[in-house]
Amino acid sequence: MIKTVSTTPYADQKPGTSGLRKKVPEFQRPNYAENFIQSIFDSLEGYQGKCLVIGGDGRYYNRDVIQKAIKMAAANGFGKVMVGKGGILSTPAASHIIRKYKAFGGIILSASHNPGGPTEDFGIKYNIGNGGPAPEKITDAIYERSKVIDSYKISDFPDINLDRIAREDIGGMIVSVIDPVEDYAALMEELFDFGAIRNLISLGFRLCFDAMSAVTGPYAKEIFEIRLGAPDGSVRNFLPLPDFGGHHPDPNLVHCKELYDEMMGDDAPDFGAASDGDGDRNLIIGKGIYVTPSDSLAILAANANLAPGYSHGIAGIARSMPTSGAADRVAEKRGIGMYETPTGWKFFGNLLDAGMATICGEESSGTGSNHVREKDGLWAVLLWLNILAVRGESVVDIVTQHWATYGRNYYSRHDYEGVDTDAANGLIAALREKLPTLPGTKYGDLTVSAADDFAYHDPVDKSVSQHQGIRILFEGGSRVVFRLSGTGTTGATLRVYIERYEPDPTRHNIETQEALADLITAAQEIADIKGRTGRDAPTVIT
Ligand code: G1P
Ligand code: ZN
Repeated sequence: MIKTVSTTPYADQKPGTSGLRKKVPEFQRPNYAENFIQSIFDSLEGYQGKCLVIGGDGRYYNRDVIQKAIKMAAANGFGKVMVGKGGILSTPAASHIIRKYKAFGGIILSASHNPGGPTEDFGIKYNIGNGGPAPEKITDAIYERSKVIDSYKISDFPDINLDRIAREDIGGMIVSVIDPVEDYAALMEELFDFGAIRNLISLGFRLCFDAMSAVTGPYAKEIFEIRLGAPDGSVRNFLPLPDFGGHHPDPNLVHCKELYDEMMGDDAPDFGAASDGDGDRNLIIGKGIYVTPSDSLAILAANANLAPGYSHGIAGIARSMPTSGAADRVAEKRGIGMYETPTGWKFFGNLLDAGMATICGEESSGTGSNHVREKDGLWAVLLWLNILAVRGESVVDIVTQHWATYGRNYYSRHDYEGVDTDAANGLIAALREKLPTLPGTKYGDLTVSAADDFAYHDPVDKSVSQHQGIRILFEGGSRVVFRLSGTGTTGATLRVYIERYEPDPTRHNIETQEALADLITAAQEIADIKGRTGRDAPTVIT
């Protein structure tokens, strides 16, 4: 039976960089999740009788919201729901399932790399039929709807058993509980030379993958240990836990410190990697060398043709504006397209759909290609392994040769987390005001050459996205970028992105923070970070 339940709107359901994210107790308020899910359905057209994919990263509250979403999909007229067994679907696997089975769209339950548990983070995100995050046009409509919603529809059938693979007709809708790994693993086998990687591993190449007790565990076990023959134990923390074992499932040098220390040690494996809560991010560390996501993007793009899925070359590269310009140099040398988009994977969708870009990346540990419409952590790891297997060189050799060929973009991001929201907004507003006066200003030996508030003109649908980050460019090609995070759930997070280009190979071995020291000082001064936020130093440096 279908019930129509009356409800009152919440004022705070504005989707951020990647869907709606809140603390679990906020999501547990009466009808909170239902309001948002109904607002999604109300913002879509033509889904009657069609298929909806549902899955999440396994975090606390995942199963509850999945049951609600299935019952609401039935009541709203979807013909079919495909849901991952155990409620599990990594973000890239969900994107693939939507595409492969030509679903109308998908609901992904995740707060990505944010911690999970009864008082931690939860999130709901809608992906469209191309498998990618809903564009702003739709997220804006969802928000508008959420402000006035007065009822939602839900079927009253009992909870679905999510723990066995089955296909049933329930309440007039097909509910198909599917293996979350199979289709994704098969796609990876198509794109990469599993034979070559298996061979590399059989010759003693040691790899270590940390699934961070999050969604990639089952995928990584199947792919690395079963299909590629890595020894048992190569995949760590492979069991998805609702609270991620109490850790932040964020694959950066702070939260993967143990792996980092091991990779810098004498007996380090050849290759270390990790992914985040929902499986779309990646961390790449070679024996003795951390590869920044910006460098990784450039190196993957430069070598992608070594993998079967990209053997015909790539059409173009896209990167988010704050990501370093390392990939631009690869695109320039190859004579292929290069696109600079705002932060957030949704901006790559049109470029990928139009065939203008093949590989995309963000400095925030996100890399991916046109195989899905999300960034993909395991994809990046497998492309690295494929390249290593074909080139027969170490990570450090590949990286240093890349720098020697293209120059090195020293790069770091400084995050100031949990800053007072008004103070953070004030800082950005003041910078914006100051923009016209900055060119020509000197900070130590640095002279500002240009400064603007980044706006993106989508070359495909011609939409314009304003206010995407304050850019300050210096003579010689260095730059700093300031923006506020759109994914946080507590206060504001100020992100400062710092970059210097160094063509001279004899100067490629400087410690990163040292290489960027004058720019870091300039950034603090230009934005008056201490004066406005009271912070002496960033909370996280990546
Ligand atoms: C962050 C990253 C961004 C990424 C997003 C979702 O967003 O900076 O690159 O697309 O998470 O994973 P932010 O918090 O900066 O808005
Ligand atoms: Zn993520």
